[in-house]
Amino acid sequence: MKKICLLFCLLLSSCASDPSRDGSPSADDEPAASRLLYPYESSIQCKGCHADQYQQYEESMHAKAFTNPLFNAQYFNDVVPRALRNPGLVSEARTCIACHAPVAFMNYSGLISTPAQASRFETGVTCDFCHTLGGYAENGDFQQVASGKKQGPFQTTGASTFHSEYSGFVQVGDFCGRCHNATNHIGVEVKSTYYEWRESSYGKRGFACQECHMNKNGFLRNGNAEFERGQAAHMNIGNISKKQKEQGKLYNHSFPGAHSISQLQDALPLDFKIGSKTADADGRFPFALLVNNERSGHKMPSGSSDLRFMWLVVNALSEAGEKIPVVFQSSMSAIGPDYSIAGSSPDDATILQNDVPSGARVYRVVLVNNAGRQSLYQYDAVKNTFDNRLDATEIRKEGYYLKLPANFSGKVNLEANLYYRGAPSSFTSLMQVADFSPVLVASKKKQITIETTHASQK
Ligand code: HEC
Ligand code: HEC
Ligand code: HEC
Ligand code: HEC
Ligand code: HEC
Repeated sequence: MKKICLLFCLLLSSCASDPSRDGSPSADDEPAASRLLYPYESSIQCKGCHADQYQQYEESMHAKAFTNPLFNAQYFNDVVPRALRNPGLVSEARTCIACHAPVAFMNYSGLISTPAQASRFETGVTCDFCHTLGGYAENGDFQQVASGKKQGPFQTTGASTFHSEYSGFVQVGDFCGRCHNATNHIGVEVKSTYYEWRESSYGKRGFACQECHMNKNGFLRNGNAEFERGQAAHMNIGNISKKQKEQGKLYNHSFPGAHSISQLQDALPLDFKIGSKTADADGRFPFALLVNNERSGHKMPSGSSDLRFMWLVVNALSEAGEKIPVVFQSSMSAIGPDYSIAGSSPDDATILQNDVPSGARVYRVVLVNNAGRQSLYQYDAVKNTFDNRLDATEIRKEGYYLKLPANFSGKVNLEANLYYRGAPSSFTSLMQVADFSPVLVASKKKQITIETTHASQK
């Protein structure tokens, strides 16, 4: 046992951070790395034989789940100071660690309150954490397999098995579900990707997250998941590598999502639907815009829906280049603020600010705190008051009209753009981290011809 631990410490520079030396608070229940209850192997140890998986993983948000500056800022500058004042928040703070640094969560039962404390463990969602995950306990806690063998998707036998064990669990949505769904300490569901997927037609027919997020493109192309093929491991030791079977389906570990611009582009195609050729007596020319979420297996935006949002900007120009006003027809009832239109809620002035042009259609979730105000802090949410996000596989039809000048006829150039933003700039500046730039998800142009409306109608 001791030998393994020594090797561990040589490989893991983090083991060197002895609390008495780095000045971080030392608590009695803090285990030394050599006494870890769950001694997970570090991801760098997989690199030699699984170089491809490692390379993809290294850049993924799973690897950066803890070092991610936005997470770090919110956790250390807001959650921890508040949990130190209010013991009621300690368990909530521990849940942050459960998902963003599960190895630390498994091995330390206290509140991780400094970066030095965290650095004693490998943070992020690590290779070995995922590949020794056997399931979840009734209370949602992670369960590590007793065999210690790496859980993999292939039914290999004999010599080729090496250190792996076949697992059906790594291939299903439930595997991802525990971390991609969350309820805060007040009982409000603040993240629901897994439930959204489970209720979708993808979830119902067992089409797992992995099929979209771990194929070589990271999404379905023309409805198909395309996979790389090859060996699961490339060992440079002796001839063992020659014995490895070529697999028809290798799973990619980059897990693209909200942080990869190329991934978001074209994720939700747009289309115009024009029903009439003439405007009404008041010069209103109605049309619809179709926003298509057939390609994702859950609502969009999903994940951190406390922070993420999308919006539509629709413009119209006459052939002469004059701007024609475009009005969004809200179908919402007029009780309370209409959060589906930017600028309608009193909180938009502080939260959305100028990120979204006033009057634009917004897709978002609105969580409110106990003062009844919109809050971007998932752990302060007492209620989810609004959710107009696009459902999985939904094609949303949005009604608009042009406000045409009297007796207008001729060509009109319509343009619709759908944008996505990971978090409002008001929030990133508060957290003092780099801004998420807005991503143009989809763009659609269409030229239409409008026939004269007869003045006699007036
Ligand atoms: C978030 C969890 C997660 C992390 C982190 C993770 N994997 Fe995987 N890995 C999976 C899943 C899930 C599959 C199988 C997908 C399926 O069959 O549907 C897989 C498949 C594999 C396979 C089988 C071959 C292949 O490429 O499909 C190997 C080998 C592997 N992972 C190694 C690694 C290594 C090495 C790392 C770290 C560098 C790593 N994994 C990190 C979840 C993870
Ligand atoms: C010394 C080389 C070596 C190292 C280091 C190594 N592996 Fe492997 N691994 C292999 C070989 C060989 C296989 C079998 C490949 C096959 O069946 O084709 C394998 C298979 C796997 C599989 C199962 C793929 C399947 O068959 O379903 C997983 C998962 C896996 N390794 C994860 C890891 C993780 C996680 C680490 C780091 C903690 C790691 N491996 C480190 C050589 C290695
Ligand atoms: C049918 C394919 C498909 C399935 C199934 C699917 N997703 Fe997605 N997912 C997408 C697409 C497309 C996007 C949007 C583009 C992007 O961010 O990659 C996305 C985005 C995401 C995001 C970023 C959300 C955001 O708003 O930024 C997360 C997190 C995610 N998926 C996790 C999951 C999990 C977990 C599951 C299973 C419970 C799952 N996905 C199932 C296709 C899928
Ligand atoms: C141990 C918890 C855990 C497990 C298991 C897990 N994830 Fe994640 N995942 C996370 C965390 C935490 C993040 C966010 C990291 C960040 O942004 O700080 C994340 C990020 C992602 C992203 C990137 C989202 C973005 O915005 O860029 C995708 C896609 C994703 N996960 C899909 C999956 C899929 C598919 C599975 C199952 C094969 C899975 N995850 C399993 C915890 C987990
Ligand atoms: C059940 C698992 C889970 C818990 C608990 C959890 N998170 Fe996360 N967190 C995730 C996942 C998964 C994502 C990525 C979702 C996405 O891409 O939209 C994420 C994303 C984030 C992000 C956005 C990062 C970015 O760059 O986009 C922040 C900030 C964050 N979490 C902070 C926290 C804090 C603070 C806590 C504790 C109060 C916490 N999380 C608790 C799973 C969790």
